[in-house]
This record gives sequence, C-alpha cells and structure tokens, in this order.
Amino acid sequence: MSGESADSGTTPVVAIDGPAGTGKSSVARLLADRVGAHYLDTGAMYRAATLAVLRADVAPDSVEVASVVAATDIRLSVDGDGATVVTLDGDDVSAQIRTDDVTSSVSAVSANAEVRVRLVDLQRTHADRTLLVVEGRDIGTVVFPAAALKIYLTATPEARAERRHRQNVAAGRESILDEVLDNVNRRDHLDSTREASPLRPADDAVHVDTSDMTLDQVLDTLTELVETRIGGQP
Ligand code: DC
Repeated sequence: MSGESADSGTTPVVAIDGPAGTGKSSVARLLADRVGAHYLDTGAMYRAATLAVLRADVAPDSVEVASVVAATDIRLSVDGDGATVVTLDGDDVSAQIRTDDVTSSVSAVSANAEVRVRLVDLQRTHADRTLLVVEGRDIGTVVFPAAALKIYLTATPEARAERRHRQNVAAGRESILDEVLDNVNRRDHLDSTREASPLRPADDAVHVDTSDMTLDQVLDTLTELVETRIGGQP
C-alpha cells in the first residue's frame, strides 16, 4: 500500500472507534500489520494520563487533573512485536496502565475537556504520509474528521462482557461475569454521556457488529474495506 490517501481531501488514517470489548485493540493492531500501516492506541494515552493523576494523588474527577496531565510528558511508540510502549516522564508504564486502578478511573480523567485537548494534539502529531490505523472513541468525529476510512465497531454489552471475562480468566485474574457486565455498562454510560467528545459514530462511519464474528472474520472485513476504500496491497 502506498500510504497516500485516496484523494487529497482525506487524511491517510483509518479511524476505528467503538466501545470497550468489541475487539477493537486486537483488530486495529493486526489490521495495521496486515496493511503495512502504523498503529496508534489512543486509549493508552488516556490510561497514561490517568496513571499520572493517580500517582499525583489527585481525584480523577477533580479540575486539578488538567494541570497534572499538562505537566507530564506522555509518549507512545510501538515495539518490534507491534505492541504499544507508553512512557510517562521517560518511565516505561506499558504494564501499569492496564491495572484495575487505572481502568476504574480512566473514564473520569478522559471526561476532562482540557485533558482531551492536550491528548488530541498529541495524537495528531502521529499522522504523516504513512497510513496510520488509529483506535479510540472520537477518532472519526474529532481527532481525524477527514480520515480516509472510518469504522465503528459495535457488539452487544453481553458479548463484550463475555469476551472481557474470558480474557480475565485466561490471564488468571479473578472475574465474575455479572460484575464485568456492570462495569461494561457503567463505562459505556460514562463514555457516551460525557460532555466532551462523547462516544458516538461519525455520520460517515462504516458500522461493523462483531457480536457473532471471530477476530479473523472482523480482520478480513476491515482489510477488505481498507483495500477497496484506500488502495491495494503493496
Ligand atoms: O480503549 P481503552 O479501554 O484502553 O480506553 C480507555 C479509556 O479511555 C476509555 O474508558 C475511554 C477513554 N478514551 C477516550 O475517551 N477517547 C479515546 N480516543 C480513547 C479512549
């Protein structure tokens, strides 16, 4: 793939939005690898900002979160295996940003409008002439509204909770399906009702419901969309 956008009015970005548990992260990373694109996980940035807030002992829903995040150097890169590496003031926090403490506070921190402005600026610095697959909640609506392709992944809350539960069990983490479902519903509610950039599909997004699809099926569907909308394989 050339990495150039299909026409000059678009940005060479594949925007993948949708709620947690739709398989977004796995599929975005694999898609980037398959089509020779760079990959950006914007949720990892909000998680890193949240870790900075927790480390500063500041309440995640207080106005002070903005100044904590403004004073923190957050950087994202991708390692040789395609995994996202996140640093906070130079410290590798790639594992710490996935802990339960961070997961329970990230919706509050990401609802802060000043934090969003800062992180959106940072996200835009990753775009260049190379095709970029970006996953998040507001990529097609706010971050890259001129993205060459916008995909909105959905799945029922039950299907998403079931997936998260299976991942927890496989990773040896204690997990109760009903609690996971409550958590999915709570995060959906917070992410879609917040004032600053709520989770919603862009008007021109292609909707893909992954409830009854395997990861490979989702990947094939998305690869075909990239090939037909943006260009063929190299
Ligand atoms: O995709 P994730 O679960 O790692 O995202 C963590 C949180 O960050 C999620 O609760 C919503 C928020 N987020 C956001 O508000 N905007 C984005 N572009 C990406 C994530």
